[in-house]
Amino acid sequence: MTVSIRPLHPLFCGEVSGIDMTRDLTSEEVAAVEAGMDEYAVLVFHKQNITDQQQQSFTRNFGELELPGAVSNITKDHERRLDPLMADVSNLNRDHKPFDRNDRARMFNLGNRLWHSDSSFRAVPAKYSLLSGRIVPAAGGNTEFADMRAAYDALDDKTKAEIEDLVCEHSLLYSRGQLGFEGLSEEEQANFKPVRQRLVRTHPVTGRKSLYLSAHGGTIVGWQTPEARVFLKDLNEHATQREFVHRHQWRQYDLVVWDNRQVMHRVRAFNDTAEIRDMRRTTVAGEEMTVEQAA
Ligand code: OGA
Ligand code: MN
Repeated sequence: MTVSIRPLHPLFCGEVSGIDMTRDLTSEEVAAVEAGMDEYAVLVFHKQNITDQQQQSFTRNFGELELPGAVSNITKDHERRLDPLMADVSNLNRDHKPFDRNDRARMFNLGNRLWHSDSSFRAVPAKYSLLSGRIVPAAGGNTEFADMRAAYDALDDKTKAEIEDLVCEHSLLYSRGQLGFEGLSEEEQANFKPVRQRLVRTHPVTGRKSLYLSAHGGTIVGWQTPEARVFLKDLNEHATQREFVHRHQWRQYDLVVWDNRQVMHRVRAFNDTAEIRDMRRTTVAGEEMTVEQAA
């Protein structure tokens, strides 16, 4: 089948037809998807009724899988609902029931409601995220994407010069700290040790620059924290204004792929203590650090 892509937004996001993820892809199909990702940064595939294995195989076309694990969540191995290669982004516990309102995992997962880039808290942050909607709620639970290339392009020259070489520190401690999430164990805090990321990234294929923002970003190296926080808050506000944002309204068996190097995303509210939203993510590991880490 031939792959074609229909734009969904004036700046980014495309809808792909001609791909069936239950089968192996040809190298031409993989190349077409990759080229689409470089251009659109977010691609939507409909009607992909896939198993976890098929999702993993499709993901491997684009690089190594990033393992979820203890550096990215507070869920312990014995509490996991899914196999270790799947990031469980659902609202479900091991018994496939929605988390209770006060469940600690639910509180932690509320962090996905903040604009972020996946795994920006890892020294080598993620390349693509692939999110499969296995069961979607009747209302709400949309995922929004913001184009960080367009956000960068729209900055004035003075700001571009000011931020060109800035380095931020990212950690789950910062994103969860914004929510007032407390009670992390010493082990969890050690897992969430901050890492350094450039604030301006250059895409390795297209050469386009983008703002590398994320709720996990909490300090700027060499700056006092309050000044860094308000500066980042202003940049985030600029970068997520309506013209840079596309909203994806989920249908069952949609699979959405986004390039974490070029966009931020967030999930919106739904009736999550009553309805089921079974979302499963695989992640393509990044290939390099954005900047050297502190000694
Ligand atoms: C993610 C995430 C958003 C959503 O999978 O990384 O932030 O819509 N999910 O569930
Ligand atoms: Mn995410």
